[in-house]
Amino acid sequence: MSGVDPVAVLAWGVPRMRDLPWRRDRDPWRILAAEVMLQQTRVDRVIPKWQAFLAAFPDPASCAAASLGDVLRLWHGLGYPRRARNLRTTATIVVDEHAGRLPNDLDALLALPGIGPYTARAVLAFAYERDVAVVDTNIARILARTAGERLTPKRAQALADDVVPVGEGWTWNQVVMDLGALVCRPTPHCDECPLATSCSWNVAGRPDPDPAVGSAGVSTKQAPFEGSDRQRRDMVMAALGSGSRLAADFDAEILAGLVADGLVVVDGIRLTLPD
Ligand code: ADE
Repeated sequence: MSGVDPVAVLAWGVPRMRDLPWRRDRDPWRILAAEVMLQQTRVDRVIPKWQAFLAAFPDPASCAAASLGDVLRLWHGLGYPRRARNLRTTATIVVDEHAGRLPNDLDALLALPGIGPYTARAVLAFAYERDVAVVDTNIARILARTAGERLTPKRAQALADDVVPVGEGWTWNQVVMDLGALVCRPTPHCDECPLATSCSWNVAGRPDPDPAVGSAGVSTKQAPFEGSDRQRRDMVMAALGSGSRLAADFDAEILAGLVADGLVVVDGIRLTLPD
């Protein structure tokens, strides 16, 4: 038994569910955009970017028809621009092969660029309201702690799949996500947790090591942005967003990485965003 009691979690979570704009939406493209943005960027930073992105690209067809440069310009501020490239490629495939609508099928979603096990299930649960279990970093922490052990990816997904209440996939996943984001944090608030008496780790007195550390799907703390290659890549993308620049003005190794990723185009001695 994993120690996740669905009745207790729903009773805790439904009355306090966070009101986030994508939670009012069931459109698969809009849900996908939110989930891709939320993978590495905080909720408060995502909200205005998500709104602006969807105002420009309300559906896969409009994103597929835009230049990659235009998509990247709207992505700026979110970081990890490969995500934007993949999202546009996915839009193109959806238009060409799925009649412009994201498929309501796990394997078909997994075949799309930038869509992994988490994102595919997020589209199924949050857009199509299917009874699948998403395992993001917050949920992965809950699974490991309630089980009282570090989990493999297979085991984490199986434990999560086991507890989705029938017909409640949408609500369940949102509420468990909130529990991980607000209570079962890296430093947990077990006194506020609806699973306090059924969580193996808590019941055992929370011995070291925390089973969530190193468990499948639990991310490690991000390295500081200041002074990172990510920051240097970001500076190039920001500069090119407002026009072409001289290649010589930037670090050659950083540029080589961006060119290899298809995010920057070299034209002689000048750089631009891709068409
Ligand atoms: N992070 C990823 N998906 C989310 C969602 N649907 N709600 C809140 N945070 C999230």
